Amino acid sequence: MVKSLSALAVGAVLIVPGSARAADAAKTPTFAKDIAPIFQAKCEACHRPDNMAPMSLQTYEDARPWAKAIAARVGGRQMPPWHIDKTVGIQKFKNDRSLSDDQIDTIVRWVNAGAPKGDPKDMPAPKVWADETVWQEAVKLGPPDLIVKSPEYTMPAVAQDAWWRPSVATGLTEPRWVRAIEIRPVGKGARKITHHALARLQQPEDMDPALFTNDPNVAGDGLFMEWAVGKNADEMRPDSGRLMLPGSKIVWEMHYHAVGEEISGHTELGVWFYPRGQEPKHREVLALFNSFSGNSPGARALDIQPNQITTTESFITLRQNARIENFQAHMHLRGKGMSMEAIFPDGRRELLSQVSDFNFNWHNMYIYADDVAPLLAKGTILHLIAWYDNTKNNKANPDPDQWVGYGDRTVDEMGHAWLNITYFSDDEFKAETAKRATATATAAGGQQPQQ
Ligand code: HEC
Repeated sequence: MVKSLSALAVGAVLIVPGSARAADAAKTPTFAKDIAPIFQAKCEACHRPDNMAPMSLQTYEDARPWAKAIAARVGGRQMPPWHIDKTVGIQKFKNDRSLSDDQIDTIVRWVNAGAPKGDPKDMPAPKVWADETVWQEAVKLGPPDLIVKSPEYTMPAVAQDAWWRPSVATGLTEPRWVRAIEIRPVGKGARKITHHALARLQQPEDMDPALFTNDPNVAGDGLFMEWAVGKNADEMRPDSGRLMLPGSKIVWEMHYHAVGEEISGHTELGVWFYPRGQEPKHREVLALFNSFSGNSPGARALDIQPNQITTTESFITLRQNARIENFQAHMHLRGKGMSMEAIFPDGRRELLSQVSDFNFNWHNMYIYADDVAPLLAKGTILHLIAWYDNTKNNKANPDPDQWVGYGDRTVDEMGHAWLNITYFSDDEFKAETAKRATATATAAGGQQPQQ
């Protein structure tokens, strides 16, 4: 009873016209009061000195000259970079950096009103950022157990973007279970030139290849792990881990871009292991599922005609019960979007996630929140659809008159989903599904006040 009354009261304050809140909302937003808190929460991670973005947005003086560009990029949902379609599929992510509709509205109204500064007394205290020269995860877990370094790279002051893929042995002599990972660019200015850095794990595996790929060409290569900068450390879900084997290598992929001064740097991967003897119950693997079919080795059936929009699709039957931990679309310059649908054994279908505004410059990984990561029984079919715009309407397209096929170069195409998957036995899966049902029921009970 008390619960329902307070819920009503909160609702009433929000909707009563003429209330203090309603009057407030109609007022012109100011930088000090309304904008700075949003920028601290959603922009400064990249837009601060010596970081990836071209300008700082920490102070009014920093931000004011960019007001028009901010309205355009924010209003068009290009900034912050988050390309998941907001109108369909799962919307709860661990690493969501997007703005709410209200925040976008506030920013655009602020710019339209001449981007006023407001009363400096309203400014929030400057956000304190963690020291980037130390491992963030070390606060919790101590120094990393293993550090793998990429070779040093020097980016000239002026140059084309570079994608660099050196490979480095991990030196492991026994299998170890991974509980946390962190990636960081190292060197003065390295964060400015490092647009993204991925670390893939390559190792000999004797696992059923169908559990981690539908691409016959990578079947022998083993298992990969992929990480993007912008999200610091990542911990595995409880009782889950990745397995690193002796003979493993880290295959780096760094996207470097020139910023007007010569800068050298490298990237480090810190790995924290579970203690020997304390093995997690579940193994998480990174799966590569193509959005097109290629049934024989060498056949990567991607065929994109000039001046056309092309769609491909694939159907992947899950051989084991699975929890999908994240969704990441990997495409190149013609890539425009990708959707992932589950077709359940009873024929029911559910669209899980869709990227509708793919941008090759951003390798966003969309990590599902704990209570919504899809739990899919074996026999469920993952249905991937990808679409490619090889017309002149695609601004990223270097040449719409080219016939484009599968390939490594950015002017060739790819179209696959990277999915972190935890596989479960039937008993484990039953337990996981039951846990989820209880959690969901409790959450729903909390929202619906009992009379
Ligand atoms: C994950 C990092 C990241 C986040 C978070 C981010 N940005 Fe950016 N932003 C960039 C990078 C990198 C560029 C330059 C490359 C580009 O334009 O895409 C950029 C470019 C821009 C530009 C264009 C600058 C120009 O040269 O015209 C604007 C405006 C902008 N960001 C505003 C914002 C605002 C406002 C936010 C928060 C609401 C934000 N960004 C959040 C990384 C980020």
